[in-house]
Amino acid sequence: MKASLNPYNPGSGLRPPALVGRDRELEALEVTLERARNGLPNRGLILSGLRGVGKTVLLNEMRSRAEDAGWFVVSLEARPDSAGSASARQILARAMTAEARKLKPREAVSERVKSALASITAFNVRLGASGIDLGVELARGRADSGDIEIDLPEVVQDLCAALGEDNRSFGLFIDELQDLDESLLRALLVTQHQAGQRGWHFYLIGAGLPHLPGILADVRSYAERLFDYRSIAPLPETESAAALVEPARTADVTFEPAALGLLVEASGGYPYFLQEYGRAVWDVAPGPVIAWGDAQAGLVVGLQRMDDGFFRSRWDRATKSERRMLVAMAEDGEGPSTSSEIAHRMGLKPTSLGPYRANLINKGLVYAPDHGLVAYTVPGMSDYVHRHQDDLDAAGR
Ligand SMILES: Nc1ncnc2c1ncn2[C@@H]1O[C@H](COP(=O)(O)OP(=O)(O)OP(=O)(O)O)[C@@H](O)[C@H]1O
Ligand SMILES: [Mg+2]
Repeated sequence: MKASLNPYNPGSGLRPPALVGRDRELEALEVTLERARNGLPNRGLILSGLRGVGKTVLLNEMRSRAEDAGWFVVSLEARPDSAGSASARQILARAMTAEARKLKPREAVSERVKSALASITAFNVRLGASGIDLGVELARGRADSGDIEIDLPEVVQDLCAALGEDNRSFGLFIDELQDLDESLLRALLVTQHQAGQRGWHFYLIGAGLPHLPGILADVRSYAERLFDYRSIAPLPETESAAALVEPARTADVTFEPAALGLLVEASGGYPYFLQEYGRAVWDVAPGPVIAWGDAQAGLVVGLQRMDDGFFRSRWDRATKSERRMLVAMAEDGEGPSTSSEIAHRMGLKPTSLGPYRANLINKGLVYAPDHGLVAYTVPGMSDYVHRHQDDLDAAGR
């Protein structure tokens, strides 16, 4: 069928043609929006799961619903690189400033709004994130101590006081939250904690890899109670089928049940795989009824595309020695593997595995589900390694 009409949307953070199977998480957000509207507090929300499971798309949907509810919304994506810590603060400061500009109506500005704008300005100056002028005097002694754990709660407090005049809340949406530097993360948890105690309507809504809840608990033990934690899992069969069927239906394209079953099973319910297979099967099928043979051909094409892109790009990010670790892990399938067993397979002492493990975690290729364990962040990585074992051997691992 025509590629130009292909409805599927494989990629990173790309909105799917049908966002299925996330009703419970969206309901949790709706409850927070509704409670905030009624002046009642609630916890923040943390979404965690493997790569390609649909966290970014869900976070974006939540952000847009919060915007529709009139929230003051700031969003950013954390990065693991060393320049990340300074820039994350600056990005946060700039994003807050850009949003705060909208607080300034043409006529009279209330005292609370003035104070909030002054605090944001002071916060920015302290972080060296100037550039957007809010047109107010600096608030000396507010949000300008240089200690992010003091300044961030102050700026949020002042902002929430100003927003409260219009019954609005402050939503901070952060993707890849596991990559945020520890001191900013600590400041955010302190702020969320104070917000709960003092009734500020500030909500951190974050997304990240499966070990994110553990990272937050390590940074502040009370983090366990600050958030509603939602593990974002692969889609059940019915929803996986809907992710394929619904977009096609709008173009009067249908699936034979056996073809649909084959695609759903191969995807393992992973949203990204569903989109990739959906796109491939559309491309190879003459249509308008997708048959078993089309599904089989689509799987071959889709898998090839993923091998060349999704998996390959991750494999290429690893050094030769790190790849040896990825190969050693593949024996355990989707894992997790114990670090000691991996070291043994690689002929290393358990202590020598540390740097490879740390680098792969830093590159977002593996994570530690628990103490002494490692697992791939990408579903299907062990199969990729097995499929390519010969090339990998030939490349001199
Ligand atoms: N609920 C869903 N239904 C159907 N497709 C979805 C759903 N959620 C996400 N997708 C699709 O899955 C793919 C991956 O989504 P997304 O980028 O949000 O995943 P992610 O969990 O953020 O991955 P990463 O950890 O790599 O950032 C996209 O192509 C998106 O369109
Ligand atoms: Mg993402």
